[in-house]
Amino acid sequence: MASGADLGVLQEASELAVQTAYRAGALLRERVGTKREIVHKGIVDLVTDADRESERLISSALKEVFPDFRLTGEEGATGANGSDYGWLIDPIDGTTNFAHGYPHFAVSICLEYRRIPVVGAVYDPMRDEMFVGVEGQGATLNDMPIQASTVVDLIQALGATGFNYDINARQEQNAFWSVFNDRVQGLRRDGAAALDAAWVACGRLDLFFENPVNGWDVGAAAVIAREAGAVVTSLAGEAYDTTMNEVLCTNAPLHDAVVSLIHETRLTRQNAG
Ligand code: IPD
Ligand code: CA
Ligand code: CA
Repeated sequence: MASGADLGVLQEASELAVQTAYRAGALLRERVGTKREIVHKGIVDLVTDADRESERLISSALKEVFPDFRLTGEEGATGANGSDYGWLIDPIDGTTNFAHGYPHFAVSICLEYRRIPVVGAVYDPMRDEMFVGVEGQGATLNDMPIQASTVVDLIQALGATGFNYDINARQEQNAFWSVFNDRVQGLRRDGAAALDAAWVACGRLDLFFENPVNGWDVGAAAVIAREAGAVVTSLAGEAYDTTMNEVLCTNAPLHDAVVSLIHETRLTRQNAG
């Protein structure tokens, strides 16, 4: 169902998000592999000077055109209050990869309308791949329409998931890993949630889930995936919104089976006490 967002706003916002994601991505491409200033937010969680620079570039570009919109950046950027529209920015999704020179990370820019993601631009600067989704208008990769896969059986599926920065909070994720690893063709942990969900949109992956994850990580890719025919929900199967701190994104045929396997895994853990 359409969110009610204004079509003119969607058009202007998507063009701006794409332009801005290209600019931020160019900055990251220049910086990857050069010496980084790294600050630790936790034992594993880190932020680099490039995260901060990319976020400054993105937030000022978005605010210049839409000064009244709310805005939340992972590294602390904020915007106005009170609008139905809000930007969610991840200046580098896959910071750990970026800091190691592992060439798999993205810029992620989402516009939400009353918590429903309506525009998403996810740019992978190392592959020069721009994924875009706009509510009601489909999804593209470098301007070509994309579609989620049609794989029907879990055992034919390539999946991805992620792990918490807090190593002590990974028990449920470890259980999911172990259960899914025995049931799918292959399981990946590639360290950039926005790309995981965007890759479900273009059929490279058939399923992706993560808990916890933030709106700035997956909001943009959620629009792209939804518009490409994937199903985007909570891990229990409720329709996704940007305030959920989790996401499940699968091609249409696999969704019920994945929700069931997640549910069974949780029940088994509960029963084991
Ligand atoms: C992280 C990545 C990672 C996911 C984490 C995210 P960051 O984002 O998307 O794949 O497992 O949950 O926080 O910190 O690199 O922007
Ligand atoms: Ca992220
Ligand atoms: Ca980030």
